[in-house]
Amino acid sequence: MNRREFSAALAAGLLSPRFTGSSRSSRGWFAGRAPTVNGERLNRHLAELARFGANPQGGVTRLAYSDADLQARQYVLGLMRDAKLSATVDAAGNIFGARPGSSSALKPILFGSHIDSVPEGGNYDGNVGSLAAIEVAQSLGEQGITTRHPLQVVIWQNEEGGLYGSRAVSGQLTTEELQNVSRSGKTIADGIKFLGGDPSRLAESRRAKGDIAGYLELHIEQGGTLEREHVDIGIVEGIVGIKQWEVTVTGFANHAGTTPMDQRHDALLSAARFVDAVNRIVTSVPGRQVGTVGRMQAFPGAPNVIPGQVVCTLELRDLDYAKVDMLYSRISTEATRIGNENETTFAFHMLHENVPAPSDPRVRGLIAESARALGLTTKVMPSGAGHDAQAMATLGPMGMIFIPSVGGISHAPKEFSKASDIANGANVLMGALLKLDASSMAVG
Ligand code: GLV
Ligand code: MN
Ligand code: MN
Repeated sequence: MNRREFSAALAAGLLSPRFTGSSRSSRGWFAGRAPTVNGERLNRHLAELARFGANPQGGVTRLAYSDADLQARQYVLGLMRDAKLSATVDAAGNIFGARPGSSSALKPILFGSHIDSVPEGGNYDGNVGSLAAIEVAQSLGEQGITTRHPLQVVIWQNEEGGLYGSRAVSGQLTTEELQNVSRSGKTIADGIKFLGGDPSRLAESRRAKGDIAGYLELHIEQGGTLEREHVDIGIVEGIVGIKQWEVTVTGFANHAGTTPMDQRHDALLSAARFVDAVNRIVTSVPGRQVGTVGRMQAFPGAPNVIPGQVVCTLELRDLDYAKVDMLYSRISTEATRIGNENETTFAFHMLHENVPAPSDPRVRGLIAESARALGLTTKVMPSGAGHDAQAMATLGPMGMIFIPSVGGISHAPKEFSKASDIANGANVLMGALLKLDASSMAVG
């Protein structure tokens, strides 16, 4: 068995990890081989979590604040108890599982992800990082390893709706946003209550810059780069900025049989031209920026009525926030022009924004070292998907670890990552966590 095969077998849980260091503090293990998680148990837990909100296509619909979300959170709380974490729900509805460190004077290291999904999503987005974080904590306990820093495993609420839980903690969530209506049909405020939080005491969940010693998140790549290039681990250099708007197009609803074609104020016709304009404008400049109209509803919505109103969304993403603003400005100018053509109007209401976040270069280095120690190959890459890590980057040093997504499919039932890649990612997370704990970087 060569080194790579050995690493793969170890990662898949086929070999039992043997701890060879003489000390079981997080500093001591550098002398021996890196401690690893139980990959078989982690993958079993992932399969069990997939039951909550399972849909016939093979993925999950586990919208934030739905019954499936609540049930999945109960399941995760049980895993936290098994991992000997002391679990609490903060005022924003996030779940924290705490594990003491040897020095309570030090600030905590946070690591985790989310378990809510998009409609008709997959079983890996968020779930891998959430359950891997719990698995790391359980493995630390089983191997008798005590970190210097207190650890907090965190399961963020409503990541998919716009990082609501993590932005509450970073102080970026505005009071107005509490009235936004989530995909579950509940407002954010009601959703937080549903999860056991208290929106009137949101300030209690807030942390200030420097309140955390660091944040780590393992996630599936959600694109096809790692698989295509046969790379085991992605090291995220930065996470794109995202702005989302609700766009209301107003025309005039009228009889579809008696209103001549040149006398219509058809809101859906304007909306269709708007979709095309977004694509044209976003692709008119070089770069990796993306723009999407992902949801649209026409009112009153009958075959024989000209649509009088359309409500749709606009989302723009790029690592360079100035570019997002430039594209938005061009798109809104074009929308006004489109509206004028048939006397319809466009109104934009910003739903939320996730500011772009570079990862901490020192944490990137620790992730690279951790992967190298396991014989895994790495690639530094940007994230086109949004993550709670970008809110945490405003509070302390942040790092993200990616594992390959088969076929680059995500936000869809066919989303899939291999069991061995999941275990690899969890092992890299564990290594990076211990290195961060031992490093002079995580001093606070
Ligand atoms: C989160 O998954 C996002 O990128 O929208
Ligand atoms: Mn995610
Ligand atoms: Mn997602």
